[in-house]
Amino acid sequence: MSAGADSGEGPVNDKTGGNKTGGGTLAQMDQQDPLAAKIEAFDIPRDQVYLDGNSLGCLSLAAKQRAREVVEQQWGQDLIKSWNLHQWIDLPVRAGEKIARLIGAAPGQTICCDSISVNLFKLLSAALAMRADRRVVLSPRGNFPTDLYMVQGLARQLGDERCSLRLVADEDITSALADDVAVVLLSHVNFRSGALYDMHEITAKAQAKGILVIWDLAHSAGVVPVQLDACSVDFAVGCGYKYLNGGPGAPAFLYVAERHQTLARQPLSGWMGHMAPFEFENEYQPAPGVAGFLSGTPPVISLSILDAALDVFADVDVAQLRRKSLALAGVFMQGVEQSPPLRELRLCSPVDEAQRGAQLAYRHPQAFAICQALIAHGVIADFRAPDILRVGFSPLFLRFTDIGRSVDVLCRIMQEQLWRDPVYNVRHKVT
Ligand SMILES: Cc1ncc(COP(=O)(O)O)c(C=O)c1O
Repeated sequence: MSAGADSGEGPVNDKTGGNKTGGGTLAQMDQQDPLAAKIEAFDIPRDQVYLDGNSLGCLSLAAKQRAREVVEQQWGQDLIKSWNLHQWIDLPVRAGEKIARLIGAAPGQTICCDSISVNLFKLLSAALAMRADRRVVLSPRGNFPTDLYMVQGLARQLGDERCSLRLVADEDITSALADDVAVVLLSHVNFRSGALYDMHEITAKAQAKGILVIWDLAHSAGVVPVQLDACSVDFAVGCGYKYLNGGPGAPAFLYVAERHQTLARQPLSGWMGHMAPFEFENEYQPAPGVAGFLSGTPPVISLSILDAALDVFADVDVAQLRRKSLALAGVFMQGVEQSPPLRELRLCSPVDEAQRGAQLAYRHPQAFAICQALIAHGVIADFRAPDILRVGFSPLFLRFTDIGRSVDVLCRIMQEQLWRDPVYNVRHKVT
């Protein structure tokens, strides 16, 4: 680790000569950062650099406090009264509206519930039923597997004549918008490469052909500007545990454009999506609006934690988050480029920042071992098979000096070949 970067006074990596950040020294960049104080809202280990907020966001003080309150007071003392007393019943809507602000959605269209996978099942079913004369769900081959698996499951259930998954190369999506396509299912940011799709262009082109569009915002909500209403998006899903910092297994969210809310019907018609759940009627009647997309009882503890975590975003706008996240990534990318020991790492994210989300991905045949060595040396990144080292730039709790430190640690691991230690080749269930 270079003393300069570690003390925050030096260049990205002064051992290897990469001393131009384009924005002054890293310490100066921290001083000028309008989001710098936000780190105080988090309870994070200060001896580590956390570059994995794209997988699991950090614990905020607000979330920690709420976790205590909801367990000790609300559940512990107030027990079942809390459904009304602490408005547990309103949590899906309340948290949904806080997310709506971050994804360019007017009120009444976003709700927090279930996982992305389950929400996709609901939305895909609804969208296919709205395009009953078509059967194809089009998706990029590089989409996140659960998105594809959910279509495959639905195809097994509905039969090939009602649902059929068509995969195309990621760059061929717009040319594959054929007349038999009912739904296009896309991740706004590719989970491996970090490549960002043009939501406005693809949505418009698909809709011009009568195709409904479902966007997966797992890697963009809370860090990349999203304009669901302005892009006239039909449906969307997203994740609570990544950039939104909602905690492990936090509930996901879904968005249904207001214009579809009367027609779109989902098949997981549980009592929480009923218009009057406490009337206990035998006949299902969907709640009006997006609430009809709820199914079972909300996971109150994790949803409360997510709800509190979202308050950290109350006084920031997404454009600010985006600017900082790109600047952090820029410092990392430049540090890698300028460090001879890192020559073997091959960037597979778009170089043009307008075309990528908030992460960088590097290919290396030993990416797994390198990632493990990084973690052991206090830089938390992740690995995506077969050969990708992924680093994410969460702007709320990362400092520019942290990025300098991470590049230094990576240099040392590569230069001294520390990754060769067999201990870094032991694979666990989760990578
Ligand atoms: C793009 C994308 N979609 C979906 C998921 C998983 O969603 P869930 O576990 O909420 O079903 C992930 C997880 O990393 C993801 O990256």
